[in-house]
Amino acid sequence: MIKIKVLRYDPEKDSKAHFETYDVPKKDKMKVLDALNYINDEHNADLAYRYSCRAGQCGSCAIKVNGEVALACKSEIEDGDVLEPLDFPVLKDLVVDRTALDEKTAKMGLFLESGCEIGECPAVMDPGEYADTKKIRSCIECYSCISACPVVKETKEFAGPYFMRYLSKFALDPRDCGERAGEGIKDGLYCCTSCSKCVEVCPKEINTFGGAIEKLREIAYNEDIGPLPAHREIWKSIKRTGRSVEPSGEGKFAEGFIKAASTKKVLKSADKSPEKPRVAVFTGCMVDYKLPEIGVALLNVLKKHGIDAEVPANQICCGSPLIRTGQTDIIEDAVKQNYEALKDYDTIITVCAGCGSTLKNDYPRYGANLNVKDISEVLVDNLNTEDMKPLDMKVTYHDPCHLARGQGIREEPRSILSRIKGVEFVEMESPNQCCGAGGGVRSGKPEIAAGLGKKKAHMVEDLDVDAVVTICPFCEYNIRDSLEAEGLGSIEVLNLLKLLERAYKL
Ligand code: FES
Repeated sequence: MIKIKVLRYDPEKDSKAHFETYDVPKKDKMKVLDALNYINDEHNADLAYRYSCRAGQCGSCAIKVNGEVALACKSEIEDGDVLEPLDFPVLKDLVVDRTALDEKTAKMGLFLESGCEIGECPAVMDPGEYADTKKIRSCIECYSCISACPVVKETKEFAGPYFMRYLSKFALDPRDCGERAGEGIKDGLYCCTSCSKCVEVCPKEINTFGGAIEKLREIAYNEDIGPLPAHREIWKSIKRTGRSVEPSGEGKFAEGFIKAASTKKVLKSADKSPEKPRVAVFTGCMVDYKLPEIGVALLNVLKKHGIDAEVPANQICCGSPLIRTGQTDIIEDAVKQNYEALKDYDTIITVCAGCGSTLKNDYPRYGANLNVKDISEVLVDNLNTEDMKPLDMKVTYHDPCHLARGQGIREEPRSILSRIKGVEFVEMESPNQCCGAGGGVRSGKPEIAAGLGKKKAHMVEDLDVDAVVTICPFCEYNIRDSLEAEGLGSIEVLNLLKLLERAYKL
């Protein structure tokens, strides 16, 4: 037998919810739904839960399994599993009240608006257009994405990914005459941090951020009703300087390095040896101008691993702030310039989750295919532990959304951290919960970034650690600001490379 914990709540009897544990037979590939049926049949538990199709089609059986949203009819039960309702008001046990969501769907007029006065909307959809949007039409209305969305929990301003997907579906439908981008803005189109938790939990694998929210932001931009003023300033900066942050001050990592390197003749093409792979560093705007010490640490740590990386000149902003906010009219120029700067290298190393995800996932759409690796991927298999001097630190790790969900990199940083001498590594409650910095939210909706950052800060506080380690300059800034705002400024926020630099006493 295996043991399953279920959160029980009966409003007629219980003042609050409580867990009960049930024995369920150990069977290969037994589904959560079968376990629930067994509990009712064999333990007379009178447990309330929903299901209908038993085939992953109706969406009614969505619950939380060990804190993560899942369809009970598709997930397999494991010993020790904890089953809870979705994060909505509970009617009884695992059954939640969907009334507010259904009412919102009706209030938002989420049905095809055809037959407009100007009569330009076609009555039927072209098969090609249908194929393009087929995926975002495959929603089964399980509401998993809304339950899992950290922004929905943070602000009422954001209707949630389900509604944004719905609006986008109509916005991309030529038969529809509605003002969908405008409606999206009213319902919080720019509140989404692009964390892609909705994509991770969707049982139909709908890319709600990239396939719907980004698209709706692009439509808003083309209709000149979006994005937010702060995002427009970033567009201007990239257009004027090639960088999303003002290229001034003490920083200028790449520029300084290129100058120094060319004096030492390190970057001359004569140094190219046919048998040695050429490795380039893609600096990213934040490392280049705000956190140049990370760039220096990167080169130092790479050297410790026998990797002589080059910092190619002429690289500019990766374009992530443009793509994430829908301002895509100048993206092709940015991709082209970076591709020209990087195309002759065998490997491109990134130290920013957002840059890495953009180069890996977005650039191929524009015909730029590069071999891009996050620094943790480069170091994980040959980490030099011999030259490390023991540190005396307790650290935790924050998963940047664009690294964990954007690039599937979760284990590599943890593997490295666990091998740094003298470092005790502990996990926080939800290491991959968004810190609030991404998707243009830190610049455009700072109060949401601060709210999510505050939650992260308190997760860190609970661990009594010396430092939070991450591999994203945006997360680093937001978590540091949030810790300081909560009076926890003594906890350091470190890029993984800064920690490694310390371990090597560089
Ligand atoms: S019962 Fe229909 S999706 Fe699970």
